[in-house]
Amino acid sequence: MDLPFDGAISAYFENEAPAEVRDAIQQAGKNDILSGTYPHKDRLSRKTYEAELEALQIELVKMQHWAKESGARIACVFEGRDAAGKGGTIKRFRENLNPRGARIVALSKPTDSERSQWYFQRYFDHLPSGGELVLFDRSWYNRGVVEKVFSFCEHYERERFFHQAPNLEETLVNDGIYLFKFWLNVGRAEQLRRFLSRETDPLKQWKLSWIDVEGLKRWGAYTAAIGETLRRTHSEAAPWTVIRSDDKRRARLNAIRTVLHALPYDRKDVDAIGAIDDKICGGPDIWN
Ligand code: ADP
Ligand code: AMP
Ligand code: MLT
Repeated sequence: MDLPFDGAISAYFENEAPAEVRDAIQQAGKNDILSGTYPHKDRLSRKTYEAELEALQIELVKMQHWAKESGARIACVFEGRDAAGKGGTIKRFRENLNPRGARIVALSKPTDSERSQWYFQRYFDHLPSGGELVLFDRSWYNRGVVEKVFSFCEHYERERFFHQAPNLEETLVNDGIYLFKFWLNVGRAEQLRRFLSRETDPLKQWKLSWIDVEGLKRWGAYTAAIGETLRRTHSEAAPWTVIRSDDKRRARLNAIRTVLHALPYDRKDVDAIGAIDDKICGGPDIWN
């Protein structure tokens, strides 16, 4: 398949990537965790992962039943750099749920008409009705990060966003919506390794875009925009849950645990949910 940026990721890897990032990837075994500061030495084994995921998915089914009975509305926002693992995490949430009550919202870049609207309008259109779980694969936080890094919005628009977002989120929460905001935090070498595998895998190439290729060179600009966004939008009503996602399996389990522990659903089995790993899952201090 001919993509406009065919080979662009490997070219970046060979010619432009910082030496320590390239070395980390070249020297690593397939199952090694690339980030030197990740608190676990090995990836979680498939066996442990599958057993824990199954227990969590059983709890999710109970949770959905409760949501339908009680009319609870649940919205989960998934954010993170490209290839952080948003799509894969969302998929595990939804895997064994009734798809009718568990929607994914993954919006494209705004049309001209959407651009003329209030910035939040097209997202808020998709907020959950009673009984629904809505999983946002990217969200209004585009304005805090990618729109800043690629100059897709004006400075004043982003400032307005930072003034409006915390108040709006508090309004949603006060209205009774359960709102979760996840920031998946992937290291630089791991991100590049995932891009390299997407480039060569015909089933994953669709995940690559011009933004990803160009974004590689803008790691530092992303870092600054993310830091500012977390700082300015971490609130009591709607705090961020930051999860290190260098090990996708641990990241997925801990995201699901965060939601289950917080919701007051019937027949909750706290032991089955298990403890949140606070070395990889916590507030903005987990982000670095
Ligand atoms: P994804 O990682 O979601 O598959 P991309 O990496 O291509 O998609 O883009 C990242 C985000 O930037 C997407 O949410 C996309 O809608 C947004 N985006 C891309 N181009 C623009 C643009 N011109 N204006 C505003 N947002 C944009
Ligand atoms: P998946 O998203 O499960 O299809 O996995 C995609 C890629 O992630 C594969 O190339 C795996 O080598 C890699 N991978 C598998 N397990 C893990 C893990 N626990 N953490 C990070 N990456 C993994
Ligand atoms: C992810 O892996 O974070 C999402 O699928 C988004 C992407 O494709 O970059």
